[in-house]
Amino acid sequence: MLVKLSDGRELPVEMYKARMVQKISLPPAERRLQAIEEAGYNTFQMKTKDVYLDMLTDSGVNAMSDHQYAALMDADDAYAGSMTFYELADAVKDVLGYPYVMNVHQGRAAEHLLAKVLGTPGGVMITNYHFTTTKAHIELTAGCACLELYADEALKTKSSHPFKGNMDLRKLDDAIAKHGPDKVGYVRMEATTNLLGGQPFSMENLKAVRAVCDKHSLVLVLDGSLLSENAYFINAREHGYGAKTIAEIVKEMCSLADIYYMSGRKNTSVRGGLIASCRKDLMDRIEPWLPVYEGFFTYGGMSMREVGAMAVGLREMVDPSVAGSSCEQIKYFVETLDGLGIPVVTPPGGLACHIDARKFAPNLPKEGYIAGAVAAALYIVSGVRAMERGTISMDRDKDGNDVYADLELARIALPRRVYTISHIEYIIDRLQWLHRHRELIQGLKFVSEPPVLRFFLGKLEALNGWGRKLADAFKKDFGETW
Ligand code: F0G
Repeated sequence: MLVKLSDGRELPVEMYKARMVQKISLPPAERRLQAIEEAGYNTFQMKTKDVYLDMLTDSGVNAMSDHQYAALMDADDAYAGSMTFYELADAVKDVLGYPYVMNVHQGRAAEHLLAKVLGTPGGVMITNYHFTTTKAHIELTAGCACLELYADEALKTKSSHPFKGNMDLRKLDDAIAKHGPDKVGYVRMEATTNLLGGQPFSMENLKAVRAVCDKHSLVLVLDGSLLSENAYFINAREHGYGAKTIAEIVKEMCSLADIYYMSGRKNTSVRGGLIASCRKDLMDRIEPWLPVYEGFFTYGGMSMREVGAMAVGLREMVDPSVAGSSCEQIKYFVETLDGLGIPVVTPPGGLACHIDARKFAPNLPKEGYIAGAVAAALYIVSGVRAMERGTISMDRDKDGNDVYADLELARIALPRRVYTISHIEYIIDRLQWLHRHRELIQGLKFVSEPPVLRFFLGKLEALNGWGRKLADAFKKDFGETW
């Protein structure tokens, strides 16, 4: 919750107390240098023993509530017909408004099934912006092209536009006219667009996209992995929604989609995922594939314990103190850095504080994997594990050339209800130091590279040994301990 301080500033005070904690430690700079070199300058390849603050992702690392832990114990283990699944179905009906639901083992499993069932080879799938796994399934599973119809404002990292996740309606009309509605597998709206810096779309935009889908009988898919956060921003930023509750906004958003899916690892704070809908005809097409790829329909690849915790998490995520828990920390983080002249994506979005790596390290050429270099540099000076969201996260084209990302972002994710303002203050300090020494950061080059989703497993090295120079400069200022 944002409280006003006597001097007028807003402070995001935590609306929870820690009742179980995990010890973490800060390895000294010399060890951090060794660790990032062992990891091939890829933060995905690090071991958590070498990480002080794990801000790689908000996925599967959120704090669960006491009620969610109770649900883990209470779950009804059964291969088929578990009552815990029906508790989830009730929560889906109450919170999202959908009568039909099936679990899947995580978000990308839903993407797989939707691509398989709704895509036709040679066709297109339309989205406000791609997510890595979504695009991979659109291309590899469906054999379709992924069209990203974001508005031009979306790529301006410094902006005050409240809804940079909106779909551009003119581009949508043009794309449908060009390809023909028969070729469009689905139109997908991602709630708080992950790779655009967690930026939301407005209800007005979602309604307009719905109207276009109705006109052409297209299936509208809502990726609700970060649904409650998008609803939180609609409440805070959209005219006419200030007096509505997060629960009401979530229901309204869901009422506009034909198919809803989500990674359960994000705003429900558990693992797994689900697909839900009001449309029996669509669910009937997906359901036969569920036991082939995921599991029987009452567990869909998830443990019943996680299904039980998800049911509770769904109900809790529409509580404003839960929906806003990371958004408010991110706002504090982003606005403080912006005030200090450190280039970040504005306005603050959901999921993470995103450093605009092109502006942070302007000396780096585009071939140098800029966001990867900045994320690795941040680790060396702080022990904070961020994630590259730039060109390394794009796979090569069919001729083997790099595809340069629209944005080069170093993503510092804020798992829900895990870290505190003093952690954020620490990162702000280290980012300031790094920004002052930014000329020490140079490019990276691949030494080993898998053919698909290379950001997970690829290994790189620092050009001209810049990692060593950065660590030495840091030690000169802070000594051997920090
Ligand atoms: N959709 C969105 C918007 C996501 O952010 C993610 C995952 C997925 C789908 C896929 O879900 O991981 O459960 O298979 N995002 C994670 C991240 C991986 O770190 O941003 P999944």
